[in-house]
Amino acid sequence: MKTLTITRPDDWHIHVRSGAVLKTVLAHTARQFARAIIMPNLKPPVTTVAQALTYRDEILRAVPVGVDFTPLMTLYLTGATTAAEIKAAAESDAVYAFKLYPAGATTNSDAGVADITAIYPALAAMEKHNLPLLIHGEVTDEQCDIFDRERVFVDTHLRAIVEHFPNLRTVLEHVTTTEAVQFVQTAGDTIAATITPQHLLFNRNAVLAGGIRPHYYCLPIIKRERHRLALLAAATSGNPKFFLGTDSAPHLTSLKETACGCAGCYSAHAALELYAEAFERADALDKLEGFASFYGADFYRLPRNTGTVTLEKNSWTVPAFYGENGLSITPLKAGEALSWKLQHYQS
Ligand code: DOR
Ligand code: ZN
Repeated sequence: MKTLTITRPDDWHIHVRSGAVLKTVLAHTARQFARAIIMPNLKPPVTTVAQALTYRDEILRAVPVGVDFTPLMTLYLTGATTAAEIKAAAESDAVYAFKLYPAGATTNSDAGVADITAIYPALAAMEKHNLPLLIHGEVTDEQCDIFDRERVFVDTHLRAIVEHFPNLRTVLEHVTTTEAVQFVQTAGDTIAATITPQHLLFNRNAVLAGGIRPHYYCLPIIKRERHRLALLAAATSGNPKFFLGTDSAPHLTSLKETACGCAGCYSAHAALELYAEAFERADALDKLEGFASFYGADFYRLPRNTGTVTLEKNSWTVPAFYGENGLSITPLKAGEALSWKLQHYQS
């Protein structure tokens, strides 16, 4: 059987939630990835080092026995984030970045930033303390077409941030457009981007053609085919500015399959398998290891992992849902076949 062994990867952008959902999803990530950058958009958001430490403990308690997994915590930027908190984050061994959500842009972003220039002092403190800024790059202007919100954010906000803070390491998270890819490619070495499996595998027809498919609805929304091709080209190019970040975002099935469904695709159950499928279709499996296991660690200035994971070419069917005792999370490609399967990992 065909197999693929790569250095154990990391997930540089994931939502694992808390409570029963955390217990349902975390094992999926921990068996694939050695480390993961944990998003702070809980309710209430994780805004302080003390809250991040409590959340990290909860995550560590959910790691299956014998599995080696390290959560890398982030803090949620608000208009009230202080320079003292940023210094404390830099001095902690738990917090690895700050996340900027424009207020109202996505799930649990109400406490986010309404006026980005107003938080420039916080960005200056992050630059000084060498803490990366992670950005949900979409404008929130209701007049702006949802398919244009990332492109407009890049032009109106990202360009300005990068100009003002040339030494601030910045990740434009889950890029979805040709314009975002081009911006990252031409910007300096301090600017990188993560790419999700759904944006590499699907275009907007998956969300909207032949019926509305809520499990493919995430933010930024999946765009048209030419954008998918630009993302795939970037991911498989070997350019270290582009690395793996699933944005796996579990929501209860009942909150997705409703008149106004939540944004987020759950992909942690088969993250690496989904990326392998995308890379194989682009005839670029040899580029998967850099994207999944090297470039993110290098950008965050962390050591590369030393263990390995092995995938085998062996078709399996994704379950209809994950969860027990009435809890249900519908995964990406539920009920459909995937051609790669994670075999084992060695730490
Ligand atoms: O689709 C999304 N879901 N995009 C985000 O930015 C947030 C995420 C979530 O937390 O559900
Ligand atoms: Zn996210």
